[in-house]
Amino acid sequence: MDSNITVLGVFVAVVFLAYNEAPFVKMTNAVCESYNKSWVAVHYCRLKAHSRNKTSLNINVTLSEPAFKIFVHIKLMKKANGYKPFLVDYNVDACEFMRRRNQPVAKIIWNLIKDVSTINHTCPYMGLQMLSDFHSIEVPVPLPSGEYLLLLDWIFDKKPQFATNVYFTFVEDFLNSHSKHGKKN
Ligand SMILES: *[C@@H]1O[C@H](CO)[C@@H](O)[C@H](O)[C@H]1NC(C)=O
Ligand SMILES: *[C@@H]1O[C@H](CO)[C@@H](O)[C@H](O)[C@H]1NC(C)=O
Ligand SMILES: *[C@@H]1O[C@H](CO)[C@@H](O)[C@H](O)[C@H]1NC(C)=O
Ligand SMILES: *[C@@H]1O[C@H](CO)[C@@H](O)[C@H](O)[C@H]1NC(C)=O
Repeated sequence: MDSNITVLGVFVAVVFLAYNEAPFVKMTNAVCESYNKSWVAVHYCRLKAHSRNKTSLNINVTLSEPAFKIFVHIKLMKKANGYKPFLVDYNVDACEFMRRRNQPVAKIIWNLIKDVSTINHTCPYMGLQMLSDFHSIEVPVPLPSGEYLLLLDWIFDKKPQFATNVYFTFVEDFLNSHSKHGKKN
């Protein structure tokens, strides 16, 4: 029987949204799923629409036991006749990452969510973990315009426990593609 509400960490997930700057990023859907409800309860995983071009993401996950060994499978998909794997497909040791910040793709995600999540500490993760009103997205790498899906699978003790998946639209050079005033030589 659980004596504590030990929730554990989600780490959250992630994703993107951005606004007003070129390039343009907007999250369009979020889907979270627990594969093991005795360990991970997903209470909330939803986008909030603020305007036509701005959404924010909230995720609230509870871990009923501490997680000491956490890997994250990070996979990016791009839509082209269905979603196909695109460039990013890594397993990251999340506990090591939190000690050393040593993985570049994880670091991009970390930089996006560190100020709006409960994950700023090392393993183990316990208790309620949240991503709150995440909306400020800057993607520091060039991507072609398109529809994307960022899949994060959270692996505790070598077994997948839950997923946090976020769909987003990315438009390269948004301002110039929507305005004739952008470029004058
Ligand atoms: C986003 O929407 C707001 C209001 O709906 C608008 O003022 C702004 O120009 C839009 N930004 C872009 C990049 O379209
Ligand atoms: C599911 O979670 C329980 C802890 O609540 C854990 O003991 C068990 O190993 C997990 N099952 C799998 C398949 O990971
Ligand atoms: C997280 O979700 C649970 C279940 O819906 C809710 O009881 C709890 O208040 C939420 N926590 C926060 C901080 O939103
Ligand atoms: C994370 O925690 C460390 C140590 O408490 C602190 O120095 C750092 O500013 C925190 N970073 C964020 C983004 O909150």
